[in-house]
Amino acid sequence: MQRIAVIGAGQMGSGIAQTVAQHGIDVLLADVDLAVAEKAVSGIERSLGKLVAKDKIAQADADAALARISPVADYAPMAEADLIIEAATEREAVKQAIFEQAGKVLAADAILASNTSSIPITRMANHAPDPARFIGLHFFNPVPVMGLIEVIPGLATSEDTVARTRAFAESLGKEVVLSQDEPGFVVNRILLPMINEAATVLGQGTAGIADIDKGCRLGLNHPMGPLQLADFVGLDTCLEIVKVLHDTTGDPRYRPAPLLVKYVEAGWLGRKTGRGFYDYSGEEPVPTR
Ligand code: CAA
Ligand code: NAD
Repeated sequence: MQRIAVIGAGQMGSGIAQTVAQHGIDVLLADVDLAVAEKAVSGIERSLGKLVAKDKIAQADADAALARISPVADYAPMAEADLIIEAATEREAVKQAIFEQAGKVLAADAILASNTSSIPITRMANHAPDPARFIGLHFFNPVPVMGLIEVIPGLATSEDTVARTRAFAESLGKEVVLSQDEPGFVVNRILLPMINEAATVLGQGTAGIADIDKGCRLGLNHPMGPLQLADFVGLDTCLEIVKVLHDTTGDPRYRPAPLLVKYVEAGWLGRKTGRGFYDYSGEEPVPTR
């Protein structure tokens, strides 16, 4: 791949753009407007700067990576991309509208991929220009650090698309897990019930936020407790994933935890809004319960 496009410049789109650019590939980065994409590029510059300050990468490599990322205002330049990765908000209607726009410029043999955490690939492929060249490409957060990418073919995805997508993922130095297009794929099918259950345990008053997270950090050796991780992922994204698990399986064990629903309704979405299960307004995160 010579050039890719990323649509959605939030925490995942930014992480994907940074990682891809650090591997020598040009990136077009888009969001709802140019200003949001430009702000994301400033964030990537800061992230690369931290790696330079820690002597992880050379300043020249950071500069070269940054120079490969171009914020764009619309879809037209994406006609030059070998791969377009959608990494926008976890809402099916948002993604469908993006596929329809991206589909108008997608080059003849280019691939359209979604970084969705849970929405069925086969179903979304109906909104792509060619379901054979549509695939799930699921990165993990923070993208520059995490070693895994899930590749999820839909029913109509061609073998060639799977092979090229897999080769791209591996070219970023990541390991690939191939998942069938089942609810939550592999990792989120396992992770999100844990996060949802942690919100239930909190809501039932079994323990407070600090102890639930401490329990999982020290008792299970997880790097973050489930409530801290939920804040890191974004509570809106967590809720959308749990809703997809619930709706697509019809299994009541995936019913969203009422407290998770309430936090999202309050606009407490985690780190990105400054408050979720923790309050991030001070130096250190403070548990809110
Ligand atoms: N870019 C580049 N490097 C980064 C980074 C970023 N955005 N964020 C952290 N790092 C690097 C740091 O430079 C540091 O590197 P060194 O150890 O080589 O110095 C390393 O990562 C660790 O960072 P910190 O010391 O700052 O912090 P930490 O030790 O607390 O680790 C963490 C942070 C890597 C996020 C760790 O807490 C962790 O692994 N948490 C769990 C993350 C996780 O589970 N992610 C998956 C979420 S689920 C998902 O993504 C799927 C979905 O669909 C929802
Ligand atoms: P985020 O809220 O940080 O960013 C979403 C971005 O999408 C925002 O910048 C928003 O302005 C943009 N957007 C919304 N509508 C758009 C449109 N019509 N066109 C272009 N951009 C649009 O969310 P995120 O955490 O980066 O998640 C993005 C996607 O990645 C979701 O599908 C999510 O499920 C998935 N994902 C998230 C994580 C995670 O840990 N947060 C991990 C893996 C995958």
